Amino acid sequence: MPKKIMLSGVKPTGAPHIGNYFGAMKQFMDLQKEHEGYIFIADYHALNFIKNRDELKKNILGVLLDYLAIGLDPEKITIFKQSDISEHPELSCIFDTLMSVPYLKRAHAYKDAVAKGKEDEFSMGDFNYPMLMAADILLYSPDVVPIGQDQKQHLEFARDTAIKFNSTFGETFKLPEPMILEDVAVVPGTDGKKMSKSYGNHIPLFAEYDEIKKCVMSIITDSSGGVPKNVYAIHKLVRPESELKKIYEEKAGKYKELKEMLLEDLEKFIAPLRKRRKELEKDIPGALAILQAGGKRAKKVAEAKMEEVREKIGVKVY
Ligand code: ADP
Ligand code: TRP
Repeated sequence: MPKKIMLSGVKPTGAPHIGNYFGAMKQFMDLQKEHEGYIFIADYHALNFIKNRDELKKNILGVLLDYLAIGLDPEKITIFKQSDISEHPELSCIFDTLMSVPYLKRAHAYKDAVAKGKEDEFSMGDFNYPMLMAADILLYSPDVVPIGQDQKQHLEFARDTAIKFNSTFGETFKLPEPMILEDVAVVPGTDGKKMSKSYGNHIPLFAEYDEIKKCVMSIITDSSGGVPKNVYAIHKLVRPESELKKIYEEKAGKYKELKEMLLEDLEKFIAPLRKRRKELEKDIPGALAILQAGGKRAKKVAEAKMEEVREKIGVKVY
């Protein structure tokens, strides 16, 4: 039985935190055991958020090292960057001719911008984001697309676009199935709200000991019944709840001790990842060679699909 194909994209928008790890990155690592597939760095998507050459470059390399450090195996998963495959924007352009403006106006991101009175700042790149994402996916005919809850609508756009293309030009694209990681609860940050870079309540995935310490000590402890729930919610990511329940009962009300335990458990989890990332940093050309080789493999698949598309739409005359 051939292995199923998975595909997902990651925006290179900065250093990951443990919420990203448990909410998304870890799932890719688990899936690679039984799937072949693609993880790509969505750098053209990131251009909607970052307009600084040095920052984008740094982030692209950063994401590559992050994924290699947590154990992405380039033998099983092709890792590449979107901008290496010109078929992504090419196909996206064709999709633009099929889907209407009112249809794209249904996008949550667009509606949010309008609701906040920021429509004027919404670029064509933001508006066409779902079409580029549809191209990212449909070029590779994946069986599953693992995504977070927040990406659900984007996958529906990709499916609708495939249906529209197939009904207009004949069966070409496989309908992608989302794999929404519902069982992964939202990881809370140090203030109990969703952990997010933009809230400043995050614990970086590759943090140094002192940095982890600072984050842990800043966790807000408005507890009831002696259990500091924000401490517990993070702790259960790195130690089984069967062990935690007993510990938190025994140390009820002793916040400092519980935080110290959490700090040590986080350090045990983060230290090997941090070490591996530092080793990878010593061989940047080696990491970039993996990305480039991945691009060559992905290009062959994307090129073949694009040839089929050109044939179907009628631009292939020789
Ligand atoms: P941030 O909110 O920090 O900017 P992103 O929006 O870049 O994070 O998220 C990248 C991926 O990580 C997405 O798939 C998202 O669903 C997941 N993710 C982000 N924050 C969390 C969290 N607190 N808990 C679970 N998953 C998360
Ligand atoms: N939009 C996704 C995010 O913000 C990233 C992404 C781009 C993606 N293209 C994709 C995810 C294709 C899955 C499949 O996280």
